[in-house]
Amino acid sequence: MDAGNILTPMSLLGTQLCHYDDIPDPGSKGLIVEHQNVLTRVLVVKKDRQVYAYENSCPHTRGALDWVPDRFLDEDANYIMCANHGALFQIKDGLCIYGPCKNQHLRALACTVQDQIIHLLL
Ligand code: FES
Repeated sequence: MDAGNILTPMSLLGTQLCHYDDIPDPGSKGLIVEHQNVLTRVLVVKKDRQVYAYENSCPHTRGALDWVPDRFLDEDANYIMCANHGALFQIKDGLCIYGPCKNQHLRALACTVQDQIIHLLL
């Protein structure tokens, strides 16, 4: 997995993840965030101008969901898809609706957009 540089909290708004326009709509991005000496793999999805963040950890095996950097969505960009065994998760709430971890959730992470910058609120 190539998640780029490790990001650390920089302001009261938490960790600056990336510019809003860095992610296509629909699209996704993978990042690694350090908070209190703990590294967390993060995936960010933009769809219909809304931004969602989840821990990049599949409930099935706790492995990362992506097999290509920044690719987390299915072909139609309707679901987050785990590359390992094909589980599908709703973008809006991380609920798995298909696959070996059906009815489990991705761990949602609070985020906000301020001045066109996506912040993770850790
Ligand atoms: S690791 Fe995600 S579906 Fe198996």
